[in-house]
Amino acid sequence: MNRAKLEEGIRILHEEIRALKTTRFVENKDFVQHGNTSLYQHCISVAYRSIIIAVKFNLNIDMRSMVRGSLLHDYYLYDWHNKEIRELHGFHHPRIACENATRDFQLNPVEQDIIRKHMFPLTPKPPMHKEGWIICIADKLCSTQETLKMGTSFWKPVEFF
Ligand SMILES: [Fe+2]
Ligand SMILES: [Fe+2]
Repeated sequence: MNRAKLEEGIRILHEEIRALKTTRFVENKDFVQHGNTSLYQHCISVAYRSIIIAVKFNLNIDMRSMVRGSLLHDYYLYDWHNKEIRELHGFHHPRIACENATRDFQLNPVEQDIIRKHMFPLTPKPPMHKEGWIICIADKLCSTQETLKMGTSFWKPVEFF
């Protein structure tokens, strides 16, 4: 694995988490995503796992956009476990997350596309960029791991933040 590229990814991840600390992103700490993992932990795990995938396969990507998109991919700001919301949550939350994120932050087109398409194939259109495909995969891997309560190993390296 390219050590320098991995370290760059982790450095960017830390910078972006720090930048989000004074925003509504921290509300994600109050929402459970899957199992006993908070939405805050989930988003950081997805960002971290996306970096690992990109570095492992030596993919030429925009690291900062990928990290920002993954941290905000589930920025829908509600508890999806509510009975009425739950059924259609999978289909609707990418659009809601993107609307919230573009309201609260300045996002480039890559970041917006990542958020809007991260649930593909539940969303009709696939991601337009490599960064979006990576997050689509990382999100499914992390969600499965969390649902099966297989631990949060991908969250651990950054949990001190
Ligand atoms: Fe999601
Ligand atoms: Fe997610």
